[in-house]
Amino acid sequence: MATISFRDATRVYPGADRPAVDKLNLEIGDGEFMVLVGPSGCGKTTSLRMLAGLEEVNSGSIWIGDRDVTHLPPKDRDIAMVFQNYALYPHMTVADNMGFALKMQNVPKDERERRVAAAADLLGLKDFLARKPKALSGGQRQRVAMGRAIVREPQVFLMDEPLSNLDAKLRVQTRTQIASLQNKLGVTTVYVTHDQVEAMTMGNRVAVLKDGLLQQVDTPMALYDKPVNVFVAGFIGSPAMNLLTGTVTEGGVRVGDYVVPVPRDTLAKAGDETTLIIGIRPENFTIADDGISLEVSVVEETGADGYVYGTLVGDEQADGTAGQQLVARVSTRQSPQMGSVVKLAARDADAVHVFSEKTQNRL
Ligand SMILES: Nc1ncnc2c1ncn2[C@@H]1O[C@H](COP(=O)(O)OP(=O)(O)OP(=O)(O)O)[C@@H](O)[C@H]1O
Ligand SMILES: [Mg+2]
Repeated sequence: MATISFRDATRVYPGADRPAVDKLNLEIGDGEFMVLVGPSGCGKTTSLRMLAGLEEVNSGSIWIGDRDVTHLPPKDRDIAMVFQNYALYPHMTVADNMGFALKMQNVPKDERERRVAAAADLLGLKDFLARKPKALSGGQRQRVAMGRAIVREPQVFLMDEPLSNLDAKLRVQTRTQIASLQNKLGVTTVYVTHDQVEAMTMGNRVAVLKDGLLQQVDTPMALYDKPVNVFVAGFIGSPAMNLLTGTVTEGGVRVGDYVVPVPRDTLAKAGDETTLIIGIRPENFTIADDGISLEVSVVEETGADGYVYGTLVGDEQADGTAGQQLVARVSTRQSPQMGSVVKLAARDADAVHVFSEKTQNRL
């Protein structure tokens, strides 16, 4: 069992003009399932490879437990990794694929067989041990790849988009299996994905990266409820949070023809900024007597709920905040007609997020 600590860990690839991972500070608890998430190129894989010892750390350090592993070779870090392309050896059986790393470490045969059998049991692969990979489904192959990591009984699991080869349905099944397996084994795990739904459903905590910089690390619910900046607000949640440009006025922020109420102490933090960004999630609107006027362009009914898309109504000359696009979730019983104008209010005060336009940070 082990904790992991990135301390100002930085990676600059040769010839790059800025770091791929820039002064990363991240503490991962013993047995924790930590997810790294962010758009393509934000430094997720690089962070994982630095931890595994596959990528040089140019400054800062990385610790596993009380050991500074920054300059240790990969084999001395007691880590097992599952990659996106978890190529299995095609000519070997499932059992041999799973036991191969142990064989290379000269683990005695009976011990190897014991560990492979235990992992196969855990993964529901007992009936497949004698098969070759080509005779397995995608999900089964993915489990063999997990098995290869598990039999090594490492202190730390690293997984880099291990589900990306699976179809949508299998991904959903497999992600719950991996999360519950990790929970059962209690091995500290760092899991990389660019899929925010995967991140939110699997992680004890989620670290959001952008351009090599850690934006926020917290529990899924805390990220959802209190995103620290516009990027995290827009990245976490689906459909994405509405981020509307508004003008500071008495008692709130004007968007279109409506003033969204904002507490005085929040507005005070804006200083002399006159333009702010208001964030409201689609699921946090209700149709009300008074609210943001939206001219409905599309209504999407998905069953019990529907999504209403439209354009903010208002005097466009006044402050330029009319004309912005918005999406709201409404109950199908309330769903409006295309072309009509509805008024939308935030469900409650906590549903209104306010960000500085200048710094993009939460006020
Ligand atoms: N071997 C390399 N040499 C030079 N630059 C690299 C190398 N590997 C990655 N990079 C650059 O470093 C940055 C971070 O890459 P990284 O692979 O860590 O991103 P990622 O978050 O894993 O993205 P993805 O979701 O696409 O896998 C990118 O700008 C990438 O182009
Ligand atoms: Mg990657």
